[in-house]
Amino acid sequence: MQVAIDGPASAGKSTVAKIIAKKLSFVYIDTGAMYRACTVIARNHKLDYGDEENILKAIDKDGIELKSENGEQKVYSAGEDISLEIRTPEISANVSQVSALPKVREKMTSLQRQMAGKTNVIMDGRDIGTTVLPDADVKIFLVASARSRAERRLLDLKQRGIKSDQTVDQIEADIAARDYKDSHRKVSPLKKAVDATEVDTTEMSIDQVVDCILEKIQEKQ
Ligand code: C5P
Repeated sequence: MQVAIDGPASAGKSTVAKIIAKKLSFVYIDTGAMYRACTVIARNHKLDYGDEENILKAIDKDGIELKSENGEQKVYSAGEDISLEIRTPEISANVSQVSALPKVREKMTSLQRQMAGKTNVIMDGRDIGTTVLPDADVKIFLVASARSRAERRLLDLKQRGIKSDQTVDQIEADIAARDYKDSHRKVSPLKKAVDATEVDTTEMSIDQVVDCILEKIQEKQ
């Protein structure tokens, strides 16, 4: 069983995907964390975020590993735990430039398909239903108003203990800019797959979103 959850920034994709993965014992793959890790690698190597060739070499050198530790998703690169670093405003502001590089996408897509393998998997991102797992059994496109997404992002940063001086207005502007870039890039832009179910989570609780997706999964089991 493959479940694809796509949608714009902070629509609640990873929160619900993690809960569903735990409930059903599925493997959870956070593809956004992988593009964020690519951006940290580019920054650590002092590369221009558009320098495709050298970013690819740096990714090959440092590697990206997603690990589950005590139920927590951790991201490692070059032996370092970069799980917090990938969420900082600096990385959020630059990830769309790195994720638009066609060869970086090619590499990540191939890694994501390998990771999905033949196990039951729930994967979240921007292009899972359209590109990475086009034959996924269940495809969900999660949306929510820009304001509620900004409020959720602020809360998420606080809960992760990441210090940020940004106001909710600034975060809203940042996620709108990121969504625009992600939706307008040439390769695998953020887009609802034709066969995906759109779920607007603005007025929904986490439990309601989880139940709605679980229902879709049960229909296919
Ligand atoms: O999901 P998250 O907000 O952490 O994703 C960070 C960024 O990674 C997105 O804004 C997008 O640029 C990129 N991304 C992508 N394709 C995916 C997942 C994330 O391009 N499948």
